[in-house]
Amino acid sequence: MPNEWLDRWREGRIGFHRETVHPALERYWPTLEIDTPGKVLVPLCGKSLDMRWLADRGHPVLGIELARQAVEQFVAEGPGDVSRYRHGVFEVYRQASIEVWCGDFFHFHIDQALEIQAFYDRAALIALPPATRQRYAFHLAQLLPPGARGLLISLTRERDIEKGPPYSVAAEEVERLFAPNFELTQLAVSSPDEAGLAEQVWRLVRRGPGRWRA
Ligand SMILES: C[S@@+](CC[C@H](N)C(=O)[O-])C[C@H]1O[C@@H](n2cnc3c(N)ncnc32)[C@H](O)[C@@H]1O
Repeated sequence: MPNEWLDRWREGRIGFHRETVHPALERYWPTLEIDTPGKVLVPLCGKSLDMRWLADRGHPVLGIELARQAVEQFVAEGPGDVSRYRHGVFEVYRQASIEVWCGDFFHFHIDQALEIQAFYDRAALIALPPATRQRYAFHLAQLLPPGARGLLISLTRERDIEKGPPYSVAAEEVERLFAPNFELTQLAVSSPDEAGLAEQVWRLVRRGPGRWRA
């Protein structure tokens, strides 16, 4: 699957990319009441402009993206000088208060996540096939301290529910995946569009007595 993403970026098949900030981020992020400067983890970030919106609101951002092409486009399209350095298996691109770590999210380690207090998942969970989603939910939980909050925007499809990415992830699956480590609240469900796709917006709060390791 990772190679497929690299192919998509190389061939410009990035229909998931939005040229505007996601309306659910603008509407629901303030309701999470996350103090600034709380660092926000953005897994599988692509070149999402949502990262700039978060940074503009005072949050340092740490995005993680597999495709170098996405990361290079992100920094090329943004303002400000870019510095690069290597951190373990990742190549890190820093532009003002945004860092994008180029590499595999599943190789991102808890020791690299110490300042993270919040997260934002738009089209990350739903980019992953069924067998990998459990691993994703577990890994995300590992990286977050108790009390960390985040928004998750998932998607369901009326027809061809096996198809993907994007994959249709039913509300019951979101609950099953995250409930062991998070308190979940469903904030909104959109009506299906012409393609039968409907978005769900979730608020997640990391529970637990402390950071823990697998
Ligand atoms: C559906 S896109 C969503 C991108 C972004 N969140 C947005 O809203 O535009 C999923 C992204 O995840 C990246 N990706 C897939 N698997 C990954 C992994 N294991 N680690 C890091 N990035 C990954 C892909 O290259 C792709 O850019």
